[in-house]
Amino acid sequence: MKNEVDFNELVLISCGHTAFQLLWAGVQLEVFDTLSKTPGLTRDEIAEKIGLESQPARILMTGLAALRLVQKDGDRFRNAPIVEKLLTRKSPDNMIDVLGWQAHIVYPTEVDFIESLKQFKNVGLRHFKGDADNIYHRLPDNPFIAKVFHDAMSSLSRSANADLAKLQIFDEISHLVDAGGGDGTNAITLAQAHPNLRVTIFDGEVACDKAREKIAGAGLSARIDTHPGDFFIDPFPKGIDAVLFGHMMPIWSPERDTALLRRAYEALPVGGKVLVFNMMGDDDEVGPMSAALGSPYFLTTATGEGMMYTWREHESFLASAGFQQTERLVLPKDHGVLAGIK
Ligand SMILES: C[S@@+](CC[C@H](N)C(=O)[O-])C[C@H]1O[C@@H](n2cnc3c(N)ncnc32)[C@H](O)[C@@H]1O
Repeated sequence: MKNEVDFNELVLISCGHTAFQLLWAGVQLEVFDTLSKTPGLTRDEIAEKIGLESQPARILMTGLAALRLVQKDGDRFRNAPIVEKLLTRKSPDNMIDVLGWQAHIVYPTEVDFIESLKQFKNVGLRHFKGDADNIYHRLPDNPFIAKVFHDAMSSLSRSANADLAKLQIFDEISHLVDAGGGDGTNAITLAQAHPNLRVTIFDGEVACDKAREKIAGAGLSARIDTHPGDFFIDPFPKGIDAVLFGHMMPIWSPERDTALLRRAYEALPVGGKVLVFNMMGDDDEVGPMSAALGSPYFLTTATGEGMMYTWREHESFLASAGFQQTERLVLPKDHGVLAGIK
């Protein structure tokens, strides 16, 4: 594997903030949607359709072409195939809401990364109203940010949970607690894929309210319910045989993750399962890129204490909480599941 950065890569990294703004402009100003509808437009045709003058459109289209987000053939542009799939609104797989989270939550707060490193604290949280020490508890004071956040989580979950739902382990579970289950996106996919599965979402009041609406919309109120509360303090639901922590471990410190897993252990019967599902860092701490670039957000913004931990660290959290660890289940998009049995 090539392990030396070259000049072009260094330019891309140094100007990462500009590269992101070009990408986000391509989404927000509907360049990608316009080219999806009508491939092969010239710069001036695009400018006219999206309401820009020719000169700023030239700067935008030159940047998008250099980033290879659009392909230029003569003087005509079309979307790169991955842009067509992931950055156009008509594509069911689009990750536009995740980019909204990058634009409105990660981007403005990462200016405080260095200070967060020095203070070992989420200094970037100062950009959002409220007194709480983590972003989750500040969401009720910041309705726009709350919407951006929940839309992004829902989109992230949708893109990862189709692979989660294919795991046979859910056929061995009758009542699953989705701890920090958010707006119910994961619970709905799991319940749809496993007809005998009952799910209880254990999350804050706001998330549970949103989840109830979605669950009713999916016609699954008989099999998915909610249990509003704080999973560090409040009792877990009764009569359960599994607990899922989806995209949860990266939020907290190793000590808090272990304490949370221990709470799940105490709530489960003998033979009960805990499932840890999120992006997993490589054991050699070199990648993958998604995990390495995802970690600063947890320090600077979310809680000031988490990161994308390695597979091995997750295994040690499970063991410390008392679980017998089973095999590593590797999923696409740098995700994985570790299942522990009580
Ligand atoms: C990163 S989102 C994960 C959502 C979902 N599990 C998924 O996989 O996409 C974290 C969720 O944990 C919830 N959460 C954070 N702290 C919590 C707490 N102390 N008790 C219950 N839920 C909490 C948040 O409200 C949010 O819905």
